[in-house]
Amino acid sequence: MADGSTPEDDVSDGREAGVGFRPGDVPIIDLDAVEAAVQQALERGDGSGLTLLGYGEISLVVGWPTGAPVVAAKRLPPFPSADAAADYGRRFVAYLDRLAERGVVPVASAFRVVVGTGSTRVAYVTQAVLDPDDLGPAILRRSAPDPDHPLLRGIVDAVGAVCGPRTGLDAQVSNWALVDGQLRYLDVTTPMLFDPSGRAELDLGLFLAAYPWALRGLIGRFVAPDVIGAYRDPRRVGVDLAGNLLKERLAEWIPSVIEAVNRTVEAEITEDEVRRYYRSDARLWELMLRLRRADRWWQRRIRRRTYPFLLPGHIER
Ligand SMILES: Nc1ncnc2c1ncn2[C@@H]1O[C@H](COP(=O)(O)OP(=O)(O)O)[C@@H](O)[C@H]1O
Ligand SMILES: [Mg+2]
Repeated sequence: MADGSTPEDDVSDGREAGVGFRPGDVPIIDLDAVEAAVQQALERGDGSGLTLLGYGEISLVVGWPTGAPVVAAKRLPPFPSADAAADYGRRFVAYLDRLAERGVVPVASAFRVVVGTGSTRVAYVTQAVLDPDDLGPAILRRSAPDPDHPLLRGIVDAVGAVCGPRTGLDAQVSNWALVDGQLRYLDVTTPMLFDPSGRAELDLGLFLAAYPWALRGLIGRFVAPDVIGAYRDPRRVGVDLAGNLLKERLAEWIPSVIEAVNRTVEAEITEDEVRRYYRSDARLWELMLRLRRADRWWQRRIRRRTYPFLLPGHIER
């Protein structure tokens, strides 16, 4: 097909995920054009020609079209094959279903796949671009700290309803929006589902492609399972939610968040614990980012290859 995608590649739009989306909830865009623009940015080694809505630790969020974005296109790490991408798509749908079952409404999201180089596939999760004023951090920034704020109550309830041995949730405020006053979850690119033995169903290897080859085994065994597994524990998720407010420059909200979280967890969390956790978490992510930068240097300067990710510049943590 001219646009490089095939009908089989379209694993799902939100409607098939059974979460009650209406057709047309996610505007259709030409993802091959998005991917071509991303490839150009990768070859140049900087994202200045793109409208970036977010650089997560994992996905790259491209606003499209560049000048006046209507869609947030979240690019996942390249998959080695169409089967691997389709498999991810099924877990994505299962995760949206799991969230819906537990009362969390995701932003209408579609999973789409385009052809990459060789047999690789590049998958995108697409969503309509939300009004910046509706995003969690913006809402807290214009409100007085309050443990009963509707956004905060909604988030804490969601954590209680979703987190468990087989399901994780990343509850940081930047992953939520209030659309017409209704809570919506937007960070659906990592389907955090676990099998009965507690192993992540996702192939964590996908995310390791961004790290130096020599360290992937180590990170895959000792870092990644622990990082992703922690999202199942409501208490850890609560500490992470509170700690992340430091990165968001919303520290004045920490006591309210702690109060709201402590209504729902058995062992209370403290501000001291939150700050200690944040410092060690920030160190971990800073180290991981340095490793990715080192790998980028190696790939470009020594191997003379295009490094397949865009990395954020300095992050104030
Ligand atoms: N649909 C959207 N509309 C507007 N901004 C978005 C949208 N989705 C994501 N973003 C922005 O990009 C950031 C990262 O997106 P997210 O889905 O949380 O990915 P990550 O896994 O990288 O954290 C969000 O915190 C938000 O600021
Ligand atoms: Mg996020």
